[in-house]
Amino acid sequence: VRMILIGPPGAGKGTQAPKIKEKFSCCHLATGDMLRSQVAKKTPLGREAKKIMDAGGLVSDDIMIGMIKEELSTNKECKGGFILDGFPRTVAQAESLDKMLAEKDQKLQHAVELQIDDALLVARITGRLVHPASGRSYHQIFNPPKKPMTDDLTGEPLIQRSDDNADALKKRLVTYHAQTVPVVGYYKDTGIWKSIDASQEPGQVWNSLLKIFGENN
Ligand code: AP5
Ligand code: ZN
Repeated sequence: VRMILIGPPGAGKGTQAPKIKEKFSCCHLATGDMLRSQVAKKTPLGREAKKIMDAGGLVSDDIMIGMIKEELSTNKECKGGFILDGFPRTVAQAESLDKMLAEKDQKLQHAVELQIDDALLVARITGRLVHPASGRSYHQIFNPPKKPMTDDLTGEPLIQRSDDNADALKKRLVTYHAQTVPVVGYYKDTGIWKSIDASQEPGQVWNSLLKIFGENN
C-alpha cells in the first residue's frame, strides 16, 4: 500500500500505523520518530530539531523532504509500500511527495485524515508513554502497558516525550491548523482522500481503516 495519515497531535497516527505496516508488510515512516532519534544521538540536526519540536514548530521542508526521499529509496521495507505518519505536514511537502512518486511512476493510494476535536487531545497527549527505540506508544489510562512504565515487547523503560505537555501541545495545535490543515485541502478534491472519526476507541478507528482498504472486519 502507499498511503499517508494526517491528523493533529494525539489523533492516533502512531497507534494505527504499526497495524497497517503489519497488515501490508510495508514500511512505517514516522518523521517525528526519525527526528527524535537524531535528538537522542545528539547530532547537529538533532540539537536544532529539539528546540523546534519543544516549541511546537516545524523543521524545515528541505530537511524533511530529504529525509523521506532517502528512506523511501534505501529502506528495504518500503519495497512493499509505505505508510507515512507525520509527513506531509505542509503543502510544499505534499507537492514534493507527489513529485518523488511520479519519478518512480507511482501514486498515492490513500490520504487518510484522522479527524478529532482539539479538546479531546490534551488527555491523550499528557497521558502518553513511549518506547523510544520502536516508537510504540501507550497511555496511562487508555492503553496502559502490562507492567508500569515498561514496554510490553522488550521490557525496556517507557518515557514521556519532552513536547507532551499542555503548553507545547497548544503550540503544536496552532501549527497544525495553520500549516497542516491546508494539506487536507490539497488532497480533498482527489479521489484518494478519506476522513475517519478518530475520537472512537482504537479498535473502531482500525475498523474504519479496514473499510477504506475495502474490507469490512
Ligand atoms: P510527531 O511525532 O509526528 O508528533 P505529532 O504530529 O504531534 O503527533 P503525535 O505523535 O503527538 O500523535 P499521534 O497521532 O502519533 O498519536 P498517538 O497514536 O501516539 O512530530 C513531532 C514534532 O516533530 C513536530 O511537532 C515537528 O516539530 C516535528 N516534525 C515531525 N514531522 C515533521 C514534518 N513532516 N515537517 C516538519 N516538522 C516535523 O496517540 C497519542 C496518545 O493517545 C497515546 O497515548 C495513545 O495510546 C492514545 N490513543 C491513541 N488513539 C486513541 C484512541 N482512539 N482513543 C484513546 N486513546 C488513544
Ligand atoms: Zn506520533
